[in-house]
Amino acid sequence: MAEDKNNLRTPIVCVMGHVDHGKTTLLDQIRGTRIVKGEAGAITQHIGATEVPIDIIVEKCGDKRLADKFIVPGLLFIDTPGHHAFTTLRSRGGSLADLAVVVVDINEGFKPQTIESLNILKRFKTPFIVVTNKIDRIQGWKVHQGESFLSTYKKQTPEVQALFEQKFYDVIGNLYEQGFSADRFDRVTDFQKTLGVIPISGMTGEGIPDVLMILLGLAQRFLESSLHYDINGPGVGTVLEVKEEKGLGTTIDVILYDGTLRKGDTVVIGCLGEPIVTKIRALLKPRELSEIRYESKFQPIPEITAAAGVKISAPDIENALAGAPIISTTPETLNGVIERVKSEI
Ligand code: GTP
Ligand code: MG
Repeated sequence: MAEDKNNLRTPIVCVMGHVDHGKTTLLDQIRGTRIVKGEAGAITQHIGATEVPIDIIVEKCGDKRLADKFIVPGLLFIDTPGHHAFTTLRSRGGSLADLAVVVVDINEGFKPQTIESLNILKRFKTPFIVVTNKIDRIQGWKVHQGESFLSTYKKQTPEVQALFEQKFYDVIGNLYEQGFSADRFDRVTDFQKTLGVIPISGMTGEGIPDVLMILLGLAQRFLESSLHYDINGPGVGTVLEVKEEKGLGTTIDVILYDGTLRKGDTVVIGCLGEPIVTKIRALLKPRELSEIRYESKFQPIPEITAAAGVKISAPDIENALAGAPIISTTPETLNGVIERVKSEI
């Protein structure tokens, strides 16, 4: 098992859904910190990435023996803003994702960005789950911090359970209307045929162990072949954001999904005109388990291997395009890589 871990990259999981339905809160809960409180206003202005190592996931699931069962090194979550202005970012996140989580506020049901998220995932044929969030807001709900859904559900009164069922099956109905056969996750036998829906609270952590287990299971079952990658191959990624940073000048935040990037590597980056050819001045990683967009002290690193979020400092990247490919190259492969980048814009 152990050596397999080196050959499978971390699956990229995109968290999508309507504004304020609880995407960032869910990720905070998974990470075990709460940065959502520091957000200005309700809108998440930027896209970020959070790497959660397998050990932490296993710990959250409450069974350490699980560590040997899974051969992915962890999960890399991408948070996408739900505000309508960010459609292109969501679409780019969707195209990058190996897996996705669509967050629906169980008390509000489907909203425009819920439907849009489902359409993006349909278009890219991305396996995903739906979580019906904020179950703790159901009237009379008794919180059992961090417990699995079934465990907390059994401890609710029949009245609360009935109220839950009503709201939950409204969402299942909404999913049918969008062309999905869906059911509560514990009743799904084949996740390829039926969409699994997990009731959760990002706030209290209820149902989160189920989310992590199902995501790992999906990664293991449906992605294994696509997660093999060439650790020594060229670094291949997508630009999420072009950003000015104090003392660094223009930087780009990149999600690397294949190969390795090293300091000093020549990279080709997509933009509206001729692709940019430049040299990586610095690779910067945020501290473990913190978000790119909240990082103030970047840590320079000599190299980084997929999948990961990384900030790159390099000359002449002002015109880099969010959503564009970035690929490292040698002088021999330069022309081919330029053509590839052009074709992917
Ligand atoms: P955008 O990034 O703006 O699209 O929103 P978001 O989907 O990231 O939502 P966010 O996590 O910022 O949560 C929105 C509001 O809902 C915040 O006030 C959260 O505290 C609250 N919230 C999120 N999840 C829960 C939950 O499970 N229960 C309760 N009671 N409140 C929640
Ligand atoms: Mg958010």
